[in-house]
Amino acid sequence: MQIITSVSKMQAFASGLHAQGKTIGLVPTMGALHAGHVSLVTAAVGRADCVVVSIFVNPAQFSPNEDFNKYPRELEADVAKCEAAGAQVVFAPPADQIYSKGFSTFVCEDSLARSLEGVSRPTHFRGVTTVVAKLFNICRPHVAVFGQKDAQQVAVIKKMVADLNFAIEIVVAPTLRESDGLALSSRNRYLSTSQRLEALAISRALFKAREMVEGGERRSDRLVAEATHILGQHRRIRVIYVSLVDADTMEPLREVKTGHSIMAVAVWMEDVRLIDNIIL
Ligand code: PAF
Repeated sequence: MQIITSVSKMQAFASGLHAQGKTIGLVPTMGALHAGHVSLVTAAVGRADCVVVSIFVNPAQFSPNEDFNKYPRELEADVAKCEAAGAQVVFAPPADQIYSKGFSTFVCEDSLARSLEGVSRPTHFRGVTTVVAKLFNICRPHVAVFGQKDAQQVAVIKKMVADLNFAIEIVVAPTLRESDGLALSSRNRYLSTSQRLEALAISRALFKAREMVEGGERRSDRLVAEATHILGQHRRIRVIYVSLVDADTMEPLREVKTGHSIMAVAVWMEDVRLIDNIIL
């Protein structure tokens, strides 16, 4: 396992692999790795000769009032998880390697990024697309793996890849859940035991929507109303959005498009912001 912290060394390493005709799989992360991230690494291992996991808590995707400073940083434990999952390289640059003094060029997807998360976090996806584009240029992957848990991020990145002609295959790995339904997230560790228990309403709301669709319901308004009702029964949960959207365009749907609709939820569980979604 190699740990690379400098952009130029990572670029040289990637060039060496390209010269040898080897393929590179990239798993971009912000660290604090859990089993969901490990499943992304496993997906990459089967698809590329060399798997690089980037670990970088990206300041550009946090708003000033968000949890950038308290976001968990635990490089040593993360490296061990990457190694055990079969990655060959961890790329963990310091912030000034990614955003040098005077940095002023951003990559901005200007359509899909505006809805859902984009409404209350207007600069979030600009930060994501900028850092992911940089990681693509630095690590030069043939394939990159992202989690379905961040469904809008997946749609925005796929659009960026198409619009900017990155020759990179985007693989989307399914959301992993705890046995009680809670989607794995690095932010779950902020939850107290009682908050965590109430947060289960999120997956319950999504599973109820799935059950309704399996029972023949197609109408978005009915699915959204029921999910919102389930979340509304919890005093400490504040709904940010519940929406049925097209998986590619993120545009709201009136009716379920089987296999191509995403029911997306974001809530505040007191001071912890949680998102989840399900494909319908
Ligand atoms: O999904 C994440 O952890 C981040 O948004 C990503 C893709 C690593 C970019 O910082």
